[in-house]
Amino acid sequence: MCGIVGYIGSRQAGPLLVEGLERLSYRGYDSAGIAVMDQAQKIGVCKTKGKVERLKEMVDKQPLAGKIGIGHTRWATHGEPSDQNAHPHTDVQGEIAVVHNGIIENHIQLRQYLEQYGEVFVSQTDTEVIAHLLHHLYDGNMLHTLQKAIGMLEGSYALVVLCSREPDALYCVRNDNPLVMGFCNGEGFAASDVTAMLSHTRNVLFLKDKEMAVLSRTGVKLFDVYGNEIEQHFVRVDWNLSDAQKGGYPHYMLKEIFEQPEALQKTIASRNVQGDFSWFPFSQENAGKISKITIAACGTAYHAAVMGKYFIEELAHIPVNAEIASEYRYRHLIFDENELFIAVSQSGETADTLAALRRAKQKGISVLAICNAVGSSIAREAGKSNTLYTYAGPEIAVASTKAYLTQAVLMLMIAVTLGQMRGRLDTQRAHQLRESLEQLPQKAEETLGAFDQIQRLCDKLYQKKHVFFIGREKDWALSMEAALKLKEVSYIFSEAYAAGELKHGPLALLEDGQLVVAVLTQKRLAEKTINNLQEALSRGAKVVAVCTKSVLQQLAELNTERIVIPDMDEISAVLLAAIPLQMFAYCMAVARGCDVDQPRNLAKSVTVE
Ligand code: M6R
Repeated sequence: MCGIVGYIGSRQAGPLLVEGLERLSYRGYDSAGIAVMDQAQKIGVCKTKGKVERLKEMVDKQPLAGKIGIGHTRWATHGEPSDQNAHPHTDVQGEIAVVHNGIIENHIQLRQYLEQYGEVFVSQTDTEVIAHLLHHLYDGNMLHTLQKAIGMLEGSYALVVLCSREPDALYCVRNDNPLVMGFCNGEGFAASDVTAMLSHTRNVLFLKDKEMAVLSRTGVKLFDVYGNEIEQHFVRVDWNLSDAQKGGYPHYMLKEIFEQPEALQKTIASRNVQGDFSWFPFSQENAGKISKITIAACGTAYHAAVMGKYFIEELAHIPVNAEIASEYRYRHLIFDENELFIAVSQSGETADTLAALRRAKQKGISVLAICNAVGSSIAREAGKSNTLYTYAGPEIAVASTKAYLTQAVLMLMIAVTLGQMRGRLDTQRAHQLRESLEQLPQKAEETLGAFDQIQRLCDKLYQKKHVFFIGREKDWALSMEAALKLKEVSYIFSEAYAAGELKHGPLALLEDGQLVVAVLTQKRLAEKTINNLQEALSRGAKVVAVCTKSVLQQLAELNTERIVIPDMDEISAVLLAAIPLQMFAYCMAVARGCDVDQPRNLAKSVTVE
């Protein structure tokens, strides 16, 4: 989604802003722009529809001189992608420039109000009202002005403001949209995502809602909504720049698929699932009281939630609802005082998941967050002691891979832990599961060996127009994720079905050559899914089976392509099967010439509703 950068220091701002925008381009965008203030306190703006490369060409031809500036990549919400609608937006005099992520919900009322005072609008965006509002309210002090303005703005925003009358500072504020400050050796950085400043500093400060920051060459000053200066809360980010670069891989998605053994290792090794549960936020007594669990998330994280449902119900014997966060936030719900709510999010910034978490908190039920991004809004909303981090490292590709797998494995670890705390898992079974978790990174490494086979297979299959993914229980949960992965990167229409549902309707769509991908990691259910495959094969379907070595025998003479994953404890084998299915989506997309890392219409972090 939209990206923000800001710079103040001793170097030319233009190239640094463009570099920051390049680093944010993975988030998805359709236009880009920068505003830089020169020594004569004049603000120059350069913005364009299209890619950051186009912006770079423009500023290379006509550089904007100055050592302070702001930049933005826009993902259109209000008004089409166009030069005019691109950020930064300015007031009529061009003395105030703003970049904004989020949505100003009362922009129409504000526009009407400001037009009465002669403000002239030139774009269709909600953001432009902010520039005019700041101009209208300006009283010689941008911090006061910003404070007044946020009292009038409704909606979500991360804002960075450049003001020609106050040439030595950038003014920043956030509400329900991430904004990070960084400071190092007389240089200040602002960004919507820490990856934009990793090459300059890892000491960062995540703004909280309605906090205002003044970024200057001497440091960052922080103010509350009443304008009182407050204490700073810098943190050190462990991620480094090479984590956020391609490292020789043609795409981030492929790099991130191959990073999964390491990501699993970090997530698993950081917590003990047998004996010492000190990492787990709930005591044995509280864990024993949990009457039901709701796990809410969006997209891929929702699919990890569905997987979590199966793990927790099976091992801890607690009823679990996996909920799509955008539904949960509005639908009629029956809360239980002993309920546990879990939010799952890679970015920790997904607006619907954040809203679902807030709704659960308002009801007074216990909450837990599973996040990848340290210091993110969801992590902060849940609280430090109620957040469990996946240690996947920065995930840049829009299509989530390593975040999914670490979320799912963390779900399994929670299930094993709750199972023991509640006396549902005996020591021997807990021990087997612990060993299985410890083996997972190595088995994931082995599974990556299927890449060449999958690539060859996709070279034959990439022209398929529709794909069905089928499986039962956990294999169905994974099928949903496999279908999402394929559709988002290759644009092939794909759908997941519980295998037993095929004959209740979807079989009508089966015709000669229809591709069906079956997930078979659970021996006890394999025979049933194989029966469903027979139904598909007899109607001319082309079948690819992703199965464990032991299920392979059950496939016997069936006419299928086979991608075989190593054997594991039956409950965790499904996690391994995610890897070939991610590679399948990747290879199909590459074979079709798609922009794998930045699929059309998608954004990495969906910070608006
Ligand atoms: O950052 P989050 O995990 O909250 O993001 C949720 C979804 O937007 C995300 O998983 C999306 O579905 C991915 N593009 C899937 O690959």
